Amino acid sequence: MPSQTDLPQSHDFQYISDLAASMIVDLVTSKPDACIALPTGHTPIAMYASLVRLSRERQTDWSSVLCFALDDYLDAPASATFEAFLAQHILDPLQIPDANRFSPVRIDGYDSLIEASGGLDLTILGIGLNGHIAFNEPGTPAASYTHCVWLTESTRLANRDAFATLDEVPHTGITMGIATIQASRKILLLAQGEKKKAIVEQAFKGPITAQVPASLLQNHSDLHLMCDFWVR
Ligand code: PGA
Repeated sequence: MPSQTDLPQSHDFQYISDLAASMIVDLVTSKPDACIALPTGHTPIAMYASLVRLSRERQTDWSSVLCFALDDYLDAPASATFEAFLAQHILDPLQIPDANRFSPVRIDGYDSLIEASGGLDLTILGIGLNGHIAFNEPGTPAASYTHCVWLTESTRLANRDAFATLDEVPHTGITMGIATIQASRKILLLAQGEKKKAIVEQAFKGPITAQVPASLLQNHSDLHLMCDFWVR
């Protein structure tokens, strides 16, 4: 079971986002050329805002940090890509140089590049309602590296509000694999809201199974689960 960081009475997600941001700034302060894998989705938005605020307050130097997108669509218009999301919420505000922004869409041999860069120091994750991490949908083998995927209907529906209609939500993506994520020295998994409680409990209190991809992280030695509900 990962550590569940002490929470205040309110279990407020802003508090959790601030806490996560503080851990990340500490990492970048101690290792200015850290390699960090970044998620997209509703969950990390508040954390990214905290991260930008805190980095400005502490004058954190992000110029040498290598930022790896966890995943992206393969068939989305440019404005709806995860690259665009990350640029808007974190990479542009922190003035990450273009040379330090990486996406699996643009790079062959993503895993080799990560390894050649020293490996991931930190991977930040959300969790899908079906237990996916990044775009590793149920059934993805533990020994998977960066690969292309067909998105499940559950994932397409969850991502629906970035598009005018459900039909426009992409069907395909590319994602770091489970093994790519497992190799990260530290993992921070954020989950917000009661709707995520059942899948988080299944993933971290239930059996380890490829049918619940997040459960494959149970044995990671430095996994931090941060959520605004208690896992029993
Ligand atoms: P969400 O997505 O943050 O939009 O809930 C999480 C995920 O699918 O990993």
